[in-house]
Amino acid sequence: MGDVMSKEELFVEKLDELVEVYGEENQEGMKAALKACQDEFGYVAASHQEQIAEKFAVNTPIVKVLMKFIPNIKEIAVEKEVVCCSGPRCKQNGSFEVIKTMREELGLNFGEVSKDGKIRLSSQNCFKNCKNGPNVVVNGKMYEHMDKKKVKELVKEIHK
Ligand code: FES
Repeated sequence: MGDVMSKEELFVEKLDELVEVYGEENQEGMKAALKACQDEFGYVAASHQEQIAEKFAVNTPIVKVLMKFIPNIKEIAVEKEVVCCSGPRCKQNGSFEVIKTMREELGLNFGEVSKDGKIRLSSQNCFKNCKNGPNVVVNGKMYEHMDKKKVKELVKEIHK
């Protein structure tokens, strides 16, 4: 896959690094994570706030509050978070075509937000639901056994 996907993966790695350096629940660590997110993506999406909260073992509202202390941070109010599984088992079950179709239909690469700021596409390495893959998650809801046709239908739903 392309570079954009590794952006998400790099961010997760960076988070692990920061947790190791600062320790869980550390505010400076979380601020550093928010800055890293802003540098990497140019904005902080709701899903990033959740990722940071999870890694630092705090509740998401705490991360939200910390954002206020960082100048120039841009929060994106994404309405639809679309996450494709990029894990190995889903790959075996045909996720390549699912991901390709999703990118084409939404006109987005992983890590990108639609021009109106409403849809964000990203990937995650395994949802632990491999036997029902390829999987796509939209706002926390899992869509299983996805194929090209189902992706097209789902995108229609997303645009409604
Ligand atoms: S590889 Fe997709 S859910 Fe595990």
